[in-house]
Amino acid sequence: MLKLAVLVSGGGTNLQAVIDAIETGKITGARIEIVISNNKNAYALERARQHGIEARCISPRDYSSREQFNQELLNCLTERRVDLVVLAGCLVVIPEQMVDAFPNRIINIHPSLIPSFCGTGFYGLKVHEEALKRGVKVTGATVHFVDKGTDTGPIILQKAVEVKEGDTAKALQLRVMEEAEWKLLPQAIQLIAQGRVEVADGRAIIREE
Ligand code: GRF
Repeated sequence: MLKLAVLVSGGGTNLQAVIDAIETGKITGARIEIVISNNKNAYALERARQHGIEARCISPRDYSSREQFNQELLNCLTERRVDLVVLAGCLVVIPEQMVDAFPNRIINIHPSLIPSFCGTGFYGLKVHEEALKRGVKVTGATVHFVDKGTDTGPIILQKAVEVKEGDTAKALQLRVMEEAEWKLLPQAIQLIAQGRVEVADGRAIIREE
């Protein structure tokens, strides 16, 4: 049974999609050990508690240095023997020591088709605003492994979503979530739980069943 830690910062709709997929049996072979937020007011923490999952706030504000915060975060994951770290709307920069401790065992969901609209500064609504500004006709979401760069790790899954005339950034954000993110993240976790994802030469390969 794969033990997951889900790291969040906000509303937690992607976390909810993972919880639902576990409860309905779409994800087998994985369970959420803990949900961690850097923001104590994140509704995601409440979602976890409502489902009997341990929910904890670990905020850089509560530590005198970034190093101490990084260490506490890492300790929390290693003490619980977490197998896979899932970044689901997590706005904290993942420390390099965590990437070293969890090689190809941290995944992130990003609301665009990487390598478009990604990297430093591309988070939240900004991603969709830039997609609309550029006039792309198709956008989407990507689940990828986390390496030491920003949105540069091996791509596991992607799904395209249509951009419609007259879209606002908020409307597009919601469509990308509904049509892509909430499906892709549980799918990627299930594939990893089944041992079907391998990384070779910086690329993720999905083995057929
Ligand atoms: C999602 O768009 C996700 O792709 C991005 O942050 C947002 C989080 O939303 N990384 P939620 O907290 O899961 O509702």
